[in-house]
Amino acid sequence: MIIITKGVAQLTEIKKGLQDVIALETRISCIDGEKGILKYRNFDINELVNLSYDSVSYLLLNGDIPNNTELDDFSSKLKNEREINENLIQTIKTCNFNIEAMDALRTAVSHMSHCDLDLNDISHDANIRKAIKLIARFPTIVASFSRIKTGYNPLSPDYNLSHGANFLYMLSGEKPDELEAKVMEKDLILTAEHELNASTFSSRVTASTLSDLHSAIISGLDTLKGPLHGGARMAVMNMLDEVSSSNDAEQYVMDLIQNNQKIMGFGHRVYKTYDPRSNIYKDLAKKLAENKGDSTLYNIAERIEDTVIQELVEKQNKPIYPNADFYSGVIYKYLGLHPKLATSVFAIGRVSGWIAHCLEQYSDNRLIRPRARSI
Ligand SMILES: CC(C)(COP(=O)(O)OP(=O)(O)OC[C@H]1O[C@@H](n2cnc3c(N)ncnc32)[C@H](O)[C@@H]1OP(=O)(O)O)[C@@H](O)C(=O)NCCC(=O)NCCS
Repeated sequence: MIIITKGVAQLTEIKKGLQDVIALETRISCIDGEKGILKYRNFDINELVNLSYDSVSYLLLNGDIPNNTELDDFSSKLKNEREINENLIQTIKTCNFNIEAMDALRTAVSHMSHCDLDLNDISHDANIRKAIKLIARFPTIVASFSRIKTGYNPLSPDYNLSHGANFLYMLSGEKPDELEAKVMEKDLILTAEHELNASTFSSRVTASTLSDLHSAIISGLDTLKGPLHGGARMAVMNMLDEVSSSNDAEQYVMDLIQNNQKIMGFGHRVYKTYDPRSNIYKDLAKKLAENKGDSTLYNIAERIEDTVIQELVEKQNKPIYPNADFYSGVIYKYLGLHPKLATSVFAIGRVSGWIAHCLEQYSDNRLIRPRARSI
C-alpha cells in the first residue's frame, strides 16, 4: 500500500500475498466471501448455471445476457471458429506427451498468436475477433492434444453440440449422454469467472502494459497451473486415486493434518464459508454417481469433506471448506478425464473471464506497477 505525501512515496503496511488488498474496480463479477455469494455481472451463479456456456461467455464479454438473436449470432461465430488447422495440429504433435495438457495449450496459444493478423492490434474490435477464436479453440486444442497423446487422430468439432458436449465428444469420439453433457457445460460456466484471482490478476497485469491479448492469456495460463490455484483439481484427482474406500478416507485426512499438509480442494483466500460453486458441484457429482450406479468415489469424497469439516472447522475453528476444485475433481473422474487434463479444462472455462477482464483493463488502462519495500 502506498501513501503519497507531498510527492514522496511512503510504503506503509505490507499485506503478504496482497490479502484483502483492493487493487482495482470491476463490473465483471463480485464475491461475498462471508455469505458465500458469487455473481457474474450482477447475476447470481445459481441462476447462471442453468444457461449455456455461450450465453455466460457473452454476458462476461458484453455485460448482459444475450437475447435469442444475439445468442444465435455469438454461438454461430464460436462454432465457426472451433476447428484448428493442420499447422496447429503439427505444433501440438511436437509437444512432449508426458506434459500436462496445460503446457500444450500454452504452446498452442503462442502458435495461434503468430498466425493472427490482429496480433498487435489491441483495439476492441480486434480483441473481440481474437476472443472468439480463443474461446472457441481451447476445447479443440485440449482434445486434440489428448487424442494425439493416446495414439488417436484428432476429431473435427460437432457443430450440433454445445461447447461442453462438443469437448467431451472431441475427447472420446462418442457423444456424451444428456447428464454428462449437462455437467460439462455447467462445469465450464462455474469456472468461467472469479473476480481478481491470481491468474486473472496476471492477465490484467500483462494487458496493463498494453501487450497483446494472446500474451495476457498466456500469463493467465501460466499462473493458473500452480497447485494453489487451478492445479488443485489435478491434485484432488490424484488424491482420490490414493484413497481406496470411504473407510480409509478419514485416516487419510487425519494423516495429512498431523503432518501439517494441506488437503487439496479445501480452503480459500476469499470464502470464509462454503464456496457457492462447491454446493452445485457436489449435487452434480451425486447425480453422476447415481447415473453410473457407482457411488464409491462420491462416498470417498463426502467422507473426506466430513473429516475436514470435523477436524479443521469444528475442532480448530479454521474456515477450511471445500472449494470449487474439490467436487469438480470428483466430476472429472466420473467423466473419465485424465488428471493431466484437469487444469486445461479449468482454462477452457476461465478463458472467457480472463478476456472480459482484459477488455475492461484495456478500456480504462493504467499500468499496474506496485512498489516493494527494500530490505
Ligand atoms: C487456497 C489457499 C491457497 C488459500 O491460502 P491462504 O489464504 O494463503 O491461506 P493459508 O495457506 O495461509 O492458510 C491459512 C491457514 O489455514 C490452513 N489451511 C488452508 N488451506 C488448507 C487446506 N487445504 N488444508 C489444511 N489446512 C489449510 C493453513 O495451514 C493455515 O493454517 P495456520 O494458520 O494454522 O498456519 C489454501 O487454502 C490452499 O492451499 N488450499 C489447498 C489448495 C487449493 O485447493 N487451491 C485451490 C484454491 S481455489
